Amino acid sequence: MKPPLSDEALDILFRKARTHHVWRDQPVTDEELRQLYDLVKWGPTSANTCPARFIFLRTREAKERLKPALSPGNVEKTMTAPVTAIVANDFKFYEKMGKLFPHNPAMGERFASNLQVAEITAFRNGTLQGGYFILAARAIGLDCGAMSGFDNAKVDAEFFSGSRIKSNFLCNLGHGDASKLLERHPRLDFEEACQLL
Ligand SMILES: Cc1cc2nc3c(=O)[nH]c(=O)nc-3n(C[C@H](O)[C@H](O)[C@H](O)COP(=O)(O)O)c2cc1C
Repeated sequence: MKPPLSDEALDILFRKARTHHVWRDQPVTDEELRQLYDLVKWGPTSANTCPARFIFLRTREAKERLKPALSPGNVEKTMTAPVTAIVANDFKFYEKMGKLFPHNPAMGERFASNLQVAEITAFRNGTLQGGYFILAARAIGLDCGAMSGFDNAKVDAEFFSGSRIKSNFLCNLGHGDASKLLERHPRLDFEEACQLL
């Protein structure tokens, strides 16, 4: 059976897409960032909770606020990337359930009254949305460099103080310099990662 996407599209999204560390001098526009989010938002989340929040750092000034939180190995690639996204989770996502799940207004209250479930839900679904984010960026022709090498507490204090939003991971966005990529690491084979029952 032929997949609905072309081989070229599958290469762009998965097989030939790489994590980039060096950026070409080509900007990312605000319009592209809106296009990116307008795809990400359609990815599924449980009970349509949509807990991910994104801050796009586009200016030197904004990047300088992030810099002290970065692991040494992530500083250069982040400061030179056209855009760095802070991919975060809103642990009070349930306050928006009236809009997001209008046919069942009790859903928001169910999360509000069980913060342990709310926390797991925010992390699971916000992380899924982070995955959709990487694929959506590739789909509109951007390259990504995701990073967990940073001090979450410092980022949260700098960007999310006074809220229940917490950083999950960072993602540089731009047009990568493919000539600077190292050889790709292998992945697990089907037999190693999957079971057919
Ligand atoms: C959530 C996440 C966090 C990552 N953190 C870092 C990081 O802090 N620094 C870094 O250089 N690469 C980081 N990476 C990049 C991975 O090492 C890279 O995606 C992986 O080795 C696969 O490489 P490839 O995409 O080129 O095939 C991260 C990737 C993801 C998805």
